[in-house]
Amino acid sequence: MLNRPRIFTLDDAPQQVLNEHGFHGQDILSVNQFSMASLEYIFDVAEEMRAMVEQQGGAELLKGRVLSCLFFEPSTRTSSSFIAAMERLGGSVIPITQGVQFSSVSKGETLHDTIRTLEQYSDVIVLRHPETGSAKIAAAAAQIPIINAGDGTGEHPTQALLDLFTIKEELGTLDGLHVAMVGDLRYGRTVHSLTQLLLNYDVRFTFVSPEILRLPLDYMNQVKDAGKNVRETYNVADVIGSADVLYVTRVQKERFTDLAQYESVKDYYRISTELMEQAKPTTVVMHPLPRVNEIDVRLDSDPRAAYFRQVKNGMYIRMAILAAVLGKA
Ligand code: NCD
Repeated sequence: MLNRPRIFTLDDAPQQVLNEHGFHGQDILSVNQFSMASLEYIFDVAEEMRAMVEQQGGAELLKGRVLSCLFFEPSTRTSSSFIAAMERLGGSVIPITQGVQFSSVSKGETLHDTIRTLEQYSDVIVLRHPETGSAKIAAAAAQIPIINAGDGTGEHPTQALLDLFTIKEELGTLDGLHVAMVGDLRYGRTVHSLTQLLLNYDVRFTFVSPEILRLPLDYMNQVKDAGKNVRETYNVADVIGSADVLYVTRVQKERFTDLAQYESVKDYYRISTELMEQAKPTTVVMHPLPRVNEIDVRLDSDPRAAYFRQVKNGMYIRMAILAAVLGKA
């Protein structure tokens, strides 16, 4: 068992404590833990992982290590990319991803007890949960690292890392960019995490959403406090000609209490091939996926559509994160 100092307790705000030497044994709960040096470090390791996978498919770096993948919400990419990442590094996985209805959670077990149990078998736990703050609760219960794979409308730090990595790969820089976030900015946790990470860079923001799905005030205040150039609009036409990154998101149906309200905004945006004729030749279209109707499938063959490359980058980033928290990077 690892007797490590905790990064933060339930009462503390996340701090910037991770640096290029600071990952071993630590939880990954929030993007606020990442300094610019630690971001660069993770990106360097992810590049190494990519080269290794392209050359030899996998390695034995995490042989004998076990990952528990505990998902209380549906997932395709996040769960399978963590599983692929662990297996490509020679480790193995306890996958509790098919719905916790098949686990003791359905018998009334608390998150605390489920986490305490899984840590007896494993070296690291990846958790997705519908409640904001649940990853912190799990981290307080466990001695082994907890990786937040999405906590309600809160954060999704590893998605934000892969998003940032993708912007850098696609455009060659993270500075001097106009980033337009489009869609459900209220409930979309990937937007919340990516926005905070981008505050480290020279970025101009436009938040494009219907009135009821605007970015929560907390995040907007952080953007303003960081002195960024920012505007809000409901009209995608305002950004299409100038955005370097169009980060498009799904309207998060499962977070609405009033389904009529969901129906009123669900098809608000659609990025079509016709609309993209007005965009720059270098504009990158990203989406954390799954998409519903927000991006026309005909756009998939446009070289500016980066969302499937983004998926692949997710595996390299998660390989880097797993290796780092397990003291092997
Ligand atoms: C996102 C999520 O779960 O927050 N998906 C993902 O992890 N790639 C986005 C979404 O569900 O819309």
